Amino acid sequence: MADVSLRDIYKSFGQNEVIHGISCDIHDGEFIVILGPSGCGKSTVLRMIAGLEVITQGDIAINGKVVNQLEPADRDIAMVFQNYALYPHMTVFKNMAYGLKIRRMPKAEIEERVQRAARILELTEFLDRKPRQLSGGQRQRVAMGRCIVREPKVFLFDEPLSNLDAKLRVQMRLELRNLHETLGITSVYVTHDQVEAMTLGDRLIIMENGYVEQIGSPLEVYERPATIFVAGFIGSPAMNFFEGRASRDGQSLELSGSGSLPVYPHLEPDFCDKAVVVGVRPEHFSLAPEGDGTIKMQVDHLETLGADTLVHGKSGEESSLFTLRLPDIHNYKKGSSLFLSVSPERLHLFDKQSGKRIGD
Ligand SMILES: Nc1ncnc2c1ncn2[C@@H]1O[C@H](COP(=O)(O)OP(=O)(O)OP(=O)(O)O)[C@@H](O)[C@H]1O
Ligand SMILES: [Mg+2]
Repeated sequence: MADVSLRDIYKSFGQNEVIHGISCDIHDGEFIVILGPSGCGKSTVLRMIAGLEVITQGDIAINGKVVNQLEPADRDIAMVFQNYALYPHMTVFKNMAYGLKIRRMPKAEIEERVQRAARILELTEFLDRKPRQLSGGQRQRVAMGRCIVREPKVFLFDEPLSNLDAKLRVQMRLELRNLHETLGITSVYVTHDQVEAMTLGDRLIIMENGYVEQIGSPLEVYERPATIFVAGFIGSPAMNFFEGRASRDGQSLELSGSGSLPVYPHLEPDFCDKAVVVGVRPEHFSLAPEGDGTIKMQVDHLETLGADTLVHGKSGEESSLFTLRLPDIHNYKKGSSLFLSVSPERLHLFDKQSGKRIGD
């Protein structure tokens, strides 16, 4: 049982600061996902929690106790890496037992823990096999088993599924989530895959360039992204952005050359008559009759996905490409025009300068 608290963490490699002050309280039993593009600092944060990397400034506490100076082995944390290496000459049982053996745990207890972990991971029938006699997913489970047998306070995962094929990844994702529900061990999981993050995490820490952009539940970050970066990173296909201007009375948005959309609730005076970035998710457009309060789209091409259709097209003079997702199959010709409305609560507005969300 453990909560983990990151308090204003900074990290520099030489002169190069790569983590610029990160704070987060991770609750006992929570599954937290650190999500962000390559190089944003995810692994560095994880390695600082594990004790594999020195913290330049700030504190990491486990159950209220600062662990900055504790060796990795004394932190009661188990970490699964992307490139986990099993010992090829050892059986599954021995691979899982090895860490306990070097900690000189009594044999009977090792036997009991390995058997229990094997049952949870459905590996019992493979305990006598060598790693090369297993599938990729089974090997991944053995790597997980090595951590489970330690019964740590905290699990750390650094992109553990990235070398599995797409189908196996989906399956392992479900298994991981089930495993978490069974064991309830506080977990921090790093990935750059937003779908993985959304399906696994109780909460996400979304990072960019060594900064935290937003911390929230999957639904919160989808429905109320705090910045343009988060808005564009979460959701597939990605959110569309339009350059626009809020009207003087704060009741509508003029999108350069492609139409205008009503805003409700009306904008605060601070934001009226100002340049804004308007975000609309592809799934939140509806077809509408031509008229005020619509965006005109010139169809460019279609992708028929079966259950629904993605329509890619251009808007107005600006001719920026954008995408909408419509239920059912549609067959619009290239060059035909569609008129689209968006219900006001589905609009996302951002300050053009700071990239921060405006209003609710
Ligand atoms: N040992 C190191 N020495 C110097 N710079 C480092 C070191 N480790 C990481 N960095 C730098 O710190 C930044 C963050 O790296 P990190 O490995 O944490 O990124 P990441 O988000 O895990 O990326 P990826 O998704 O590619 O694994 C990068 O700019 C990287 O070049
Ligand atoms: Mg990494």
